[in-house]
Amino acid sequence: MPSNRQFNRFAQSYRRYSLIQKRVAGFLARQVARSGYAQDRIVDLGCGSGGYFMAHERTFASYLAIDVSAEMVRIHPEGQGVEKMVGDFNDPELFRSLKERDFDLIVSSSALQWAKDLDATLGLVATLKKPVALSIFTSGTFAALHRSIGVTSPIRSKEETLDLIEKHFDARVDILQYRLYFSDRISMLRYIKRSGVSGGERKVGYRRLKEALENYPLAYLQFEVVTAVGK
Ligand SMILES: C[S@@+](CC[C@H](N)C(=O)[O-])C[C@H]1O[C@@H](n2cnc3c(N)ncnc32)[C@H](O)[C@@H]1O
Repeated sequence: MPSNRQFNRFAQSYRRYSLIQKRVAGFLARQVARSGYAQDRIVDLGCGSGGYFMAHERTFASYLAIDVSAEMVRIHPEGQGVEKMVGDFNDPELFRSLKERDFDLIVSSSALQWAKDLDATLGLVATLKKPVALSIFTSGTFAALHRSIGVTSPIRSKEETLDLIEKHFDARVDILQYRLYFSDRISMLRYIKRSGVSGGERKVGYRRLKEALENYPLAYLQFEVVTAVGK
């Protein structure tokens, strides 16, 4: 599991390397629009540099952008109605403070795969009794790469993620799969190191990862994401 320091370290390059998260946020925003849920006042857990916020051209009556990394919070866009907060979605205290607030929708895009205990965090989200829009990366992300270097993904499988969503919410669920193609191994390596998407390959170190990539049979990296919009 990456530490806050790692999220801070990647904050600057994150925006440039977050192509997939951008697509995921766009998909999630469209699903919310289709759901008909009110979305004037949003709470965004793991807001990062603003992937979900920037998937919209509209302004919000209020948009509470929360991230555990102070550096991410700093680079999240400012704007009408935007309030930023350093907060940890593993911490029940954050949810106690959110109960004091009024909002329409709780969003978390491409962040909850890093929850220490997803069951507990989703349980805390559910106590807020508001519609949710979630996207959560699964172990299908970088699956072939992890196999070829012999590490297990640090994030949960699609099945486990779906079970936990079903346990806490009555939601419309979608499974998204993406491929990101690279013209050479160096740019693939750079992407893996800077995107902050996965993490299992960090266990093997830069040199071994570089060597392993020489034998990696695919010209692309895989991504798998579960989305859920419901109550
Ligand atoms: C892959 S980024 C996604 C950012 C943004 N939501 C987007 O769609 O581009 C994951 C974000 O989750 C944040 N994060 C990780 N663990 C967290 C935690 N325990 N509490 C709050 N934010 C967390 C990271 O700092 C990072 O900004």
